Amino acid sequence: MATLKAVRGTRDLLPPETALWNRIEAIARSVFARYNFGEIRTPVFEDTSLFARGVGEETDIVSKEMYTWEDRARAQSEKPQSLTLRPENTAGVVRAYIEHKLGETGQLQKLYYIGPQFRRERPQKGRYRQFWQIGAEVIGPPSAGSESPLRDAEVLEMLAKLLKELRISGWTLELNSVGSAADRARYNEVLRAALEPVAPKMCADCQRRAVTNPLRVLDCKVPEDQPIIETLPKIADCLDEDSKKHFAAVTAALDAAGVPYHLNPRLVRGLDYYTRTTFEFTHGGLGAQNALLGGGRYDGLSESIGGPKAPGIGFAIGLDRLVLTLQAQDQTVLDTIYVDTPCAAYIAPLGEAQNASALALASDLRKRELRVEVGDGTFRLKKSFEIANKLASRIVILGEDEEKSGILTVKNFVTGVQSKVPREELAAVLKKPAAELEG
Ligand code: HAM
Repeated sequence: MATLKAVRGTRDLLPPETALWNRIEAIARSVFARYNFGEIRTPVFEDTSLFARGVGEETDIVSKEMYTWEDRARAQSEKPQSLTLRPENTAGVVRAYIEHKLGETGQLQKLYYIGPQFRRERPQKGRYRQFWQIGAEVIGPPSAGSESPLRDAEVLEMLAKLLKELRISGWTLELNSVGSAADRARYNEVLRAALEPVAPKMCADCQRRAVTNPLRVLDCKVPEDQPIIETLPKIADCLDEDSKKHFAAVTAALDAAGVPYHLNPRLVRGLDYYTRTTFEFTHGGLGAQNALLGGGRYDGLSESIGGPKAPGIGFAIGLDRLVLTLQAQDQTVLDTIYVDTPCAAYIAPLGEAQNASALALASDLRKRELRVEVGDGTFRLKKSFEIANKLASRIVILGEDEEKSGILTVKNFVTGVQSKVPREELAAVLKKPAAELEG
C-alpha cells in the first residue's frame, strides 16, 4: 500500500519547532494586549460569496486559489451552499463585526487573530497551501475615529515594535496610498486608457484585466510584461486632496514615531478591498517570497458585504515566513529568547517494582513546575543513562535502597558530579541551573 503523506503544500509542525511557534505567538499576544487588542476567532470556512464580494472576483485569490465546494443540502428543498476555506481572515472579521452589530457599541474594535488560511498556490519555500497568519484589524464607525491617520500610524508602529520584540531586524516597510474608492475608479479609467494600445502585447491575464479591472495588471508577475507596466501612470497622480492629506498625516506620524518606510507607488496589493494606506514589510532573508506581512486600509469593505459604514485598517503576518526569517538569523539570538528548556531530570526506576514510585516522584516534581521525564524499570541502567543524557541535564536513580531510605542518587551531566539528595530537597536541587555544583 502506498504510504500516506501530508498533502502537497501542507506540512506537519513538530517539536521542538512548535516551541518556537508558541513563543512567537505568546510575544504577539503580549504586544497586542499592550495596544488594547482582543482576540477574535472566526470559522475556518465561510460562505463563498463573502470572499467573492469582499476580496474581489478578479483577484488571483478568488479567481484561482480558493478551496471551494458545494455543501450538500440537508433537506431536498434546500439548495446546496457554496462554501470556501478562508484564504484570509479580514473578510471573516468584518462579517463578524456586522453580524454581531459591533458598530452599535460606538467604539473602535481592535481585534487580532492567529490561525490557518488556505490558498491553492504553487508550493515553494515560504509559500504553502495551508499557511498561518497572525493578523489584527481596527474597525469602527467613523464617529469612533476609525478613519483617522493616527490609526494607520499606530498599527504600523505596533508592527515595528512587535518585530523588535521578536528580534527581527533588516525589514523594509513598503508604503503607498491607493486612494479612496473614487480615486481608484478614476485611476482605473486612466489605466484602462493607457493600457488600450499596449494590452495586446501583454499576457492573457493582463489582456483580460485591462478591460475588467485594470488595477490588477499591476500585480502581474510575468517578466516580459514588466517594462510595459513600468511606463503606466502612477496612482499617486490620481489622489484627491483628502487622500493626499490623509497619507501625508500617516507619513508625518511615522516620522515622529521614528518608524522608517520606503514609498512604493506600485504597491497596490492583491486584494480589492484596499483604500488609501497600503503596506508590506519585506525581508531580504526570505528569497522570492519576500513579503513578511501585508495590510492596509479598507474603508468600504463593510458596505461591500452589506454592513454599515465601518472604515478599518489591519494587517496579516505570514507566520511560516516569520519562522523562516528567525531561523535564518543568528543562532545566538534564537537561543536567548526562543530556546526550549530541556528536562530538569530523567527519573530512572531500577526495576519494575519501582515504576509506581518513579511515576509518583515525577508527578510530585511536575506539580512543582519542573519539566521531567520518567523511564521504565525494564531498562538497563546503561540504557537509562543514554536516554537521560540526550534529553535531561540530570538523572535521578530510584532503586530499592533509594525507595526505602528516601535518599536519591542524582547525577548532574553538566558538572559530572554524582550526589545523594533527600527526596524532600530534590525539587529545590533540580530548580538550580545544572551548571551550579550541588552537594
Ligand atoms: P496578504 O498579503 O494576502 O494579505 O497576506 C498576508 C501575508 O500572509 C503575506 O505577506 C505572507 O507573509 C503571508 N502569506 C500569504 N500567502 C501565503 C502562502 N501561500 N504561504 C505562506 N504565507 C503566505 C492578507 O491576507 C490580508 N487579509 C491582510 C490584511 C489584514 N489587510 C488588512 N487587514
